[in-house]
Amino acid sequence: MSEKGLFITFEGADGCGKSTQLDLLKNYLENKGFEVVETREPGAKGLGQEIRKLLLHYDGYISPKCEAFMFLADRAQHIDTIVKTAVEEGKIVLCDRHTDSTIAYQGYGRGEDIEKLKYLNNLATGGFNPDLTLVYDVDIETALERRGDDRDRMEQAGKDFQVKVQNGYKKIAEVEPGRVKIIDAKPDIETVFEQTKKTVEQLIKKRYN
Ligand code: TYD
Repeated sequence: MSEKGLFITFEGADGCGKSTQLDLLKNYLENKGFEVVETREPGAKGLGQEIRKLLLHYDGYISPKCEAFMFLADRAQHIDTIVKTAVEEGKIVLCDRHTDSTIAYQGYGRGEDIEKLKYLNNLATGGFNPDLTLVYDVDIETALERRGDDRDRMEQAGKDFQVKVQNGYKKIAEVEPGRVKIIDAKPDIETVFEQTKKTVEQLIKKRYN
């Protein structure tokens, strides 16, 4: 195995099923002998968890810019204290949401300036970018059904917001087709996982063979 590991991010609108796919992939890769780190944004650990509580459950107004900076603050801490080290140690890091969530939710969803958010994302990560990003694409009705009734602050934003987020992800994939791959998340879990596996296997082949 080469020294550096891999950084793979999982993205999509709320209820797209990405977290289930992340768990399946973790098992699959561990069975193949890879060391895998499962993590998430916002709120992987410690300080991040405190930021997550505020972002998802604060019971008052949060301005869109404040919201963006809080996600970015969590990201800066997360990359610096968890992701970078693990990848440098040769591990495969699977991360539930990352920079593209900010572009999709705060940019396309809330209407903050996309180019400025890209700049801020880069500032937060220090230019440490994912090797691969999987975007789970599913129609909004299916996503709403999968989410159930227990909704956090972001999920309460409404259907129009979710549609904007979803279309945002498609635009992100158009701009960076090398890194960002769209997975059709409408079928059953096993069929979606076949696509997940195939896409990740291609990257692993390139990196380790
Ligand atoms: P979470 O419970 O992790 O949702 P999910 O299981 O759908 O990933 O909540 C994260 C929420 O925060 C989700 O609605 C997306 C949103 N979010 C942003 O708006 N911007 C961001 O930069 C990130 C990382 C998440």
